Amino acid sequence: MAIEIRVDGQTVVVDDASATLLDVLRWQVGSTAAKDGCAPQGQCGCCTVLVDGQPRVSCVTPVRRIDGREVVTADGLPDEEKVAWADALLATGGSQCGFCTPGIVCRLAAAEHKGIAADDPKIHNALAAHLCRCTGWQTIVEAYAQKVSGVSVTVSPSSAAAQRASLEGGVDQRVGAAVVFGAGGFSADTIPSGALFAVPDGSNGWVVAETLTEARSASGKVQGRRTTASPEPPLELPDGEWVRTLRTHWVEPAFLETETVWCEPGGVPSSPVANGGAFGAKTDPSLGEAARALADRHTRPVVVVLSREDSVRMGAKRPPVAGGVRADGTGVLRVAQTDGLAELIHRVAPSLEVEEVEVVGPPTSASIRGAGWTEALALVASVSEPNGDGADEVVLPDGGRARVRVADEQVHVVVDAGSPLDETTLRSYVIGAVHMGLGLVRSERLTVDADGTVHDLTIRSFGVLRSSDMPHVEVEIEPSDGAPVPVGDAVFAATVLSAWRSAGWPPVWGTD
Ligand code: FES
Ligand code: FES
Repeated sequence: MAIEIRVDGQTVVVDDASATLLDVLRWQVGSTAAKDGCAPQGQCGCCTVLVDGQPRVSCVTPVRRIDGREVVTADGLPDEEKVAWADALLATGGSQCGFCTPGIVCRLAAAEHKGIAADDPKIHNALAAHLCRCTGWQTIVEAYAQKVSGVSVTVSPSSAAAQRASLEGGVDQRVGAAVVFGAGGFSADTIPSGALFAVPDGSNGWVVAETLTEARSASGKVQGRRTTASPEPPLELPDGEWVRTLRTHWVEPAFLETETVWCEPGGVPSSPVANGGAFGAKTDPSLGEAARALADRHTRPVVVVLSREDSVRMGAKRPPVAGGVRADGTGVLRVAQTDGLAELIHRVAPSLEVEEVEVVGPPTSASIRGAGWTEALALVASVSEPNGDGADEVVLPDGGRARVRVADEQVHVVVDAGSPLDETTLRSYVIGAVHMGLGLVRSERLTVDADGTVHDLTIRSFGVLRSSDMPHVEVEIEPSDGAPVPVGDAVFAATVLSAWRSAGWPPVWGTD
């Protein structure tokens, strides 16, 4: 029997009772506001919509359960509400790539409807159903407070905002109301009509089908889980008399849009990196090559899509390290063999000898944010005193400079990024980098077996800090009319060092 729902004011008849609401929204209605960050895990919140006014995670909502009900996506909110949410998020910088934002807007709209006040900490509970990899949460909470308190700030983002975002993201980025509602140009939202879908078959090949649902079901893979095993850092410390040691795990870059690439026959593959740089991940060209080869073979456009589990198994990670340092700052850093990593480390920590070792596990990449060199810098700096004010400073070769002090429930950051271009955007990226730096020291790690099998396959198991885990971040931007330079990596590295220092130098990261 057909199911009938209303979506953003339109009646939609669904024949497939086994479909999820997200399937219906994206593949039948053609609405791209709700995103797929982890379906069918139901853990990232990117697919959140309102069902009869209540926030629902649409990737785990069978459409048969909502027969006759009213669904509103972020795009379907009343126009004046959309303007108010966009203004608030643009005024605070609460949306960067925008992949998580439409789902968060639905959550915030429901929270406002429930009467959660601007300064009520319950807003963190509401946000607990979501993940945002970019912003560090604070600017989202500030946007909520601004919207709920009725402060009206109309914001027209300038090209300077996009320029700052592009500098920090490492790829061209857009800033504006459309991005808030998910129109950041994501590969999964721009698939040509008539495309076939290809998913990994688990044996280095591809299952190709007319729909994503068919391809996934034909691949026959079992849904991954979070492991209960506690992860062991994979590398042993090098021999030596060390005054400080550090061991780390593989760490998932945890971008929110999984790898998705489409290609027309004879064409150029789409970029899997849309309105964000994926923090140096997604640089592997093999998915694009596969999309092109499959498109040529089938003489139709083909979209290659990794599920969250596929992405964890196949995508490049931050490489694990193990090292020791003497009181004079010399020492040895052992790293998982990764092209280009030793050069990066030598550039910032020439006093460390780098030992590359083969280690069985997921692929690694030197282009992941701060990979290897951040750990090296922290190890060497750990045997020196901080500046007089207790802050740790990192200066990047291209000129970005950050001083960070992590203390109790407060993080203080001073940045010199040359001309800020747009202070709101710069502040947002600074807070995002603090969030990622704290996460690396405190909570982010993957459990990998001795045979190299990754066990943490759900997006919640990567250790990304939640809104309620974040201390308040105070950002000072030094005035400058010098050439604008990116500063996020300097903030990230200085945060890592200060967080490690403030925790008392525990010898293994993932300290919580
Ligand atoms: S896609 Fe539904 S919660 Fe992640
Ligand atoms: S803005 Fe939240 S994931 Fe990018």
